[in-house]
Amino acid sequence: MAYSEKVLDHYENPRNVGSMDKNDPSVATGMVGAPACGDVMKLQLKISDDGIIEDAKFKTYGCGSAIASSSLVTEWVKGKSIEEAGEIKNTAIAEELALPPVKIHCSILAEDAIKAAIEDYKSKQSK
Ligand code: FES
Ligand code: FES
Repeated sequence: MAYSEKVLDHYENPRNVGSMDKNDPSVATGMVGAPACGDVMKLQLKISDDGIIEDAKFKTYGCGSAIASSSLVTEWVKGKSIEEAGEIKNTAIAEELALPPVKIHCSILAEDAIKAAIEDYKSKQSK
């Protein structure tokens, strides 16, 4: 199967690969797995006191589309509020990367990772 140019670009030059300290109260971690293939994505967001995402890092053990999807969302979420980031839909990711139908679940992984990170942030805030 042919990957789109945007997938290849993010795959070959992934943005914001790395980790942050998950014990830092301002860092939210979302870790999700895809049941369809077993790939795993970790997305971390550094969130300011007023709920703005200042930085994002990812580590993805998975296919090119999953890596590209996570790289893309780290770019998209920076500067957004957590509410805005929570509205990012996998369909927008799939469209931007021109993912074929069998790779749609890779973009769902990225949407789920954002949601999981936001949940982690909220549970940290309530402590
Ligand atoms: Fe093999 Fe995703 S199914 S890397
Ligand atoms: Fe499973 Fe891409 S995340 S094939």
